[in-house]
Amino acid sequence: MLMQETTKRVEQLIRDLSRFNETPEKGITRRFLTSIDQEAKHYLIQHAQEQGLTVKEDAIGNIFCTLPGSNPDLPAVWTGSHVDAPLHGGMFDGVVGVVGALEALRLIREQDIARERNIIAVIFASEEPTRFGVGCLGSRALIGQLSETMLDDLVDQDGISLRQALIQQGRNPGAAVNSPADPKHIHKFVELHIEQGIVLEKLEKQIGIVTAIAAPADIRLQLYGVQGHAGATPMNLRKDAFAALGEISMALERLARQWNCVGTIGSVEVDPGTSNVIPGLVTCSIDIRGVETESFHSMLEKLHQEITNICSGRGIQFNWTLLSKDDPVQTDTKIVQSIESQCRTLGLSYHHMPSGAYHDSMIMAAISQVGMIFVPSRDGISHDHREWTNFEAIASGISVLTQTLIQLSQK
Ligand code: GLV
Ligand code: MN
Ligand code: MN
Ligand code: MN
Repeated sequence: MLMQETTKRVEQLIRDLSRFNETPEKGITRRFLTSIDQEAKHYLIQHAQEQGLTVKEDAIGNIFCTLPGSNPDLPAVWTGSHVDAPLHGGMFDGVVGVVGALEALRLIREQDIARERNIIAVIFASEEPTRFGVGCLGSRALIGQLSETMLDDLVDQDGISLRQALIQQGRNPGAAVNSPADPKHIHKFVELHIEQGIVLEKLEKQIGIVTAIAAPADIRLQLYGVQGHAGATPMNLRKDAFAALGEISMALERLARQWNCVGTIGSVEVDPGTSNVIPGLVTCSIDIRGVETESFHSMLEKLHQEITNICSGRGIQFNWTLLSKDDPVQTDTKIVQSIESQCRTLGLSYHHMPSGAYHDSMIMAAISQVGMIFVPSRDGISHDHREWTNFEAIASGISVLTQTLIQLSQK
């Protein structure tokens, strides 16, 4: 009965949130600090307040919803995720962890389950790199990794800096870089998330228990060739910036296979971008991930080397900007054991696995022990409008999360 109510409530909330959308015809887009993103968060704040939680928001826009324990001086248990969405994504990425956190707190409060520590549901300000090129800006602010320089260097496609975007929303950028969380106040952090891959579905397992999170690097690459006439310039006399990128993209694929990493060029801007002009400038993103620190670092080094060689062979100048680079993270053994024992008690099948996607947990690991619970993604599809997870499967994930939070909230 409880499970059915949870399933219904969660479906409603997820569908409600999906209406805050910049691109209704093409999947879900909710970019950080747009009015749509702010409206979705406002909706969640109201929802949390109606649920009797105390709600606070910090300068960058992380939202903290607290369910008090009997001993509020103890470090709190944190749970949560994000509600910003990539370009044309789905309605579950991040949202499941936020809606799941709020539902878990509701179940604990309604059943008046004893707990010593406060439990805090956090809605991170922004996890996707969609607008400013760097992911997890909310959690980075919390660990003190957001700098004044980043406020000006991170700019969106319209040239608006993170600082300007914060000011436009009436926020104080100075406070955003200066209000990290105190690690002494955090006991453990647990995040519920969709898997975004196909492993659980293939193995027919209901729950993924995350053992490690792959490290990502985000690079902005600019290639400077020579703009010219597409008809009048012979092939041997060109410096075509896009042709150089073609070669770089093949090198990226080869190196990623060789170093057990993944590499993606997901955004390319060609200047001037018209059919009869040789591209003079190409700007692209490069996203690289790896679970093993050494091979991840070697991959980055080798790629830089290859780009240097390719460009010098073609007489092209390049500019490589490393926007962010994180380290792989191991999850906490105690949290892993707790999740596993809740799965057994609840009769849910489970599988231990690494996360290829990154999450706010990866950043929070700098100041807290972290753990993650995955629920299956249909056909393994994510960051796409076809992203889907059954609401019953989400409710199962929420049961595991709820029991894990209860256990961690005892001293
Ligand atoms: C976050 O969405 C990621 O790209 O892993
Ligand atoms: Mn995502
Ligand atoms: Mn996510
Ligand atoms: Mn993500």
